[in-house]
Amino acid sequence: MDYHEVAKKAIGDMPPATRFRAQDAKVIKAHAELILPLAGELITGFYDMLYAHEPTRAVFEEGERPKREKSLGEFLMRVVNGPHDDKFFAWLAFVGPVHVVRQVSNPMMLAMLDHLVLFIMRKFKGHENVHEVTEAFVRLTATLGAIISYGYEVAWQEALHNVVGMPPALVQRMVHEEARNMFPLRGREEDS
Ligand code: HEM
Repeated sequence: MDYHEVAKKAIGDMPPATRFRAQDAKVIKAHAELILPLAGELITGFYDMLYAHEPTRAVFEEGERPKREKSLGEFLMRVVNGPHDDKFFAWLAFVGPVHVVRQVSNPMMLAMLDHLVLFIMRKFKGHENVHEVTEAFVRLTATLGAIISYGYEVAWQEALHNVVGMPPALVQRMVHEEARNMFPLRGREEDS
């Protein structure tokens, strides 16, 4: 799997106004002194939530929490300090499949990305730049969600290729065809 390609394709599919951009990185970095001291509270709340819910708790192995907290802390440092270069986005494309291996579903991932934005929004409530900072995080998590969920899809296709020898392009064609059979009213109007 070419992680740079996965990130490029996912970002390319997003309308430009929805993508994480250099200005967002600047806004987040400019507020680093307020955001970084919140990391401990954010990380503890994040894993308390995952450990309190049976389907997400079931993902973790015995004694794994300190390692996971460390990864999330490193992730936040990179998000705040950058650099937000191609390497950063390619790394995110790798983070998607890492979760596939552990059977973390896209709904779990997307819900926790939203949780991250809500946390920031609540903490900046009343701050003069609350809108700017929240928007930067919304575009960040939208971009992460796009890359991670697309990385997830590609990992599935490649796994299918390795297991049953079906090339990804064929899988896509078959799934599309089957979806048209399953939902006959969608995408067929132009045919009738
Ligand atoms: C905001 C959403 C999330 C972010 C940004 C995130 C980020 C990360 C990062 C950066 C890593 C380390 C990847 C590496 O090895 O470089 C990781 C690993 C991991 N995450 Fe997440 N994660 C998220 C959500 C979740 C959720 C919802 C679960 C479980 C329900 C989860 C479970 C795990 C596990 C088990 C690993 C270890 C994978 C392995 O190496 O075996 N993560 N995550």
